[in-house]
Amino acid sequence: MSGALPGCARPRPTDPFTVGVASGEPSASGVVLWTRLAPNPLAEDGFGGMGPGPVEVEWELAVDESFRRVHRRGTETAVRESAHSVHVELEGLAPGREYFYRFRTGSYQSPVGRTRTAPGPGAHAGTLTMCVASCAQYEHGYFTAYRHLAQEHPDLVLHLGDYRYEHAAQDYVAPDGNVRDHAGPETVTLGNYRQRYAQYKTDPDLQAAHAAAPWLAVWDDHELDNNWADEIPEMPQPDFLARRAAAFQAFHENMPLRRISATRGIDLQLYRRVDWGNLASFFLLDTRQYRSDQPCGGRFGSDCPGRTDPSRSITGGEQESWLLDGLRSSSARWNLLGQQVFFTQLDVRPGAGRGFNPDAWDGYVGSRERLVAALRDSRARNSVILTGDMHRHCAAEVKERFDDPASATIAAELVSTSITSEGDGSETEPTTAAILADNPHIRFHHNRRGYLRAAIQDREIRADFRVVPYVSRPGAPVETRASFVIENGQPALHRS
Ligand SMILES: [Fe+2]
Repeated sequence: MSGALPGCARPRPTDPFTVGVASGEPSASGVVLWTRLAPNPLAEDGFGGMGPGPVEVEWELAVDESFRRVHRRGTETAVRESAHSVHVELEGLAPGREYFYRFRTGSYQSPVGRTRTAPGPGAHAGTLTMCVASCAQYEHGYFTAYRHLAQEHPDLVLHLGDYRYEHAAQDYVAPDGNVRDHAGPETVTLGNYRQRYAQYKTDPDLQAAHAAAPWLAVWDDHELDNNWADEIPEMPQPDFLARRAAAFQAFHENMPLRRISATRGIDLQLYRRVDWGNLASFFLLDTRQYRSDQPCGGRFGSDCPGRTDPSRSITGGEQESWLLDGLRSSSARWNLLGQQVFFTQLDVRPGAGRGFNPDAWDGYVGSRERLVAALRDSRARNSVILTGDMHRHCAAEVKERFDDPASATIAAELVSTSITSEGDGSETEPTTAAILADNPHIRFHHNRRGYLRAAIQDREIRADFRVVPYVSRPGAPVETRASFVIENGQPALHRS
C-alpha cells in the first residue's frame, strides 16, 4: 500500500513456502507438481495463515538445477476452497527425463524440487532405483529416515500410507515415549486435517524426501482414523462419513495427485496403475475404501469363520476385477503391487493354536486366494507385493497354500518398516523367533525404523532393508540390515 505512513509498522507478509514442494504420478509424458501456501502453517483453522482471496502462483520447470534452461513456465491460481494448495498437472514432457521445478509468488520463491518422467512404452529402462516408505508418526521420532531416503537420489518414492496420524498430542505414545507433540485436537474436521498435514510438512527431512523424487502415494488407515473399513469406523462416532470426506479432501490437497483423484462426495479414486517403460507396472491398491468390516470383532490374534468367508472382500469387487484384468494383460517385466496391509499369512500366536491380524489380508482370505490364483494363472510375470503398516521390515514368500510349505511360491512380499512409528525399536524382539518358527515362509522380520531401497533391473530386483539405530534424537546414520534378490522368472527370495 503506497499510502502507508513512513515509519508506521505494517505487518510484513511472510514466506508462504513453509511446507515445501512435491511431485508425483510420473508418466512417460508428464508429472504433477505440488505446493501449498501457508505462511503460518500451524494456524488452527487449517488455512495456514492465508486470507480469503485467490493468489497467483507462478511455476517453472527446468532441465537444470540452476534454472538456466527453463523448459516450461505457467501460473496457477491457489484458492481457499483447496487451502491454497497448487497442483500443476503437466503433459507433453519428454520420457525418461530428469527435471527441476520451483514456485514463486510475490517476492517469495519456493525451494527447488527434482522430479522425472517415466521411460516411454517399450523403452529399455535400465535400472529403476526406488525407495519405499510408510508409517511416520510425527510424535514417535525424528524423520531421519526420510533424510537418508532423499540422499539415495531415488528415481521414485513409493509411500504406502500412515503418512500422518490422527491422534491428539500424547494419545499414541511410543514405547520409549514421544519426542514431540501433534498440534491441534484429534483430526476430525477438514480444518483439523489441513492443520495436521501442514505440521508434518514443516519437517525439513520430510520436505527433503518430497523434493528428491516423484512420489506415488496411497493411504492406509491413519490418513483418516485407526482401522476404518469403508463406511465403518473402528469405534462408533457421530458423522463418520463427514469425517471421511474431510480426510480424503485434505489428503488430495496435500499430496501430488492428479485431478482424477479429487474427492467426489465421500469417495476418492486412489487405486490406479502406473507404468515404468516395459520394466515395471505398479498396481497401487486401496484396501481401505471398499473393504468389508474386519472379522472376529477386529481382535488382533484371533480366528473365526468370518475370516475365510469368500463373500467378504478387502478390495471390493470393482477394484478386484480391475486388478485381475490388469494382471492378465500386463506385459511388464515386473508387476509391483503397492498396497497397505500384510498380504502373506501370519500366525501371530506363538506355539500351539493360531491367531491372526483381522485387519490384514489374513482377515480377508477369500480376496487373497482369488489374487494368488490370478497371479499363478495369469501371464503376469514376476509379481512382487510391497507393503507398509507393520512397523517392521519383513520379507516373505507368498505360497500357493500357506499351510503347505512344499507348495509353490507364487510371489514375493517386501514390507518396509516405519519411518518413526513405535520409536527406536530394537535389534531383536522376543517374538521374532516364534514368528519365524510358526511361519516358515517368512524369511526376515526386523524391528528398526527405516525404509526399503530397491534396484529394479531386467534380470533381478535387489532389495536392501535400510535401518537407522534410533529416531528418539536427530542425526542417526543409516545402514543396510539385510538384502534380498529376486531373479527374473523365479519368485523365491535369495538372501545376499
Ligand atoms: Fe502405521
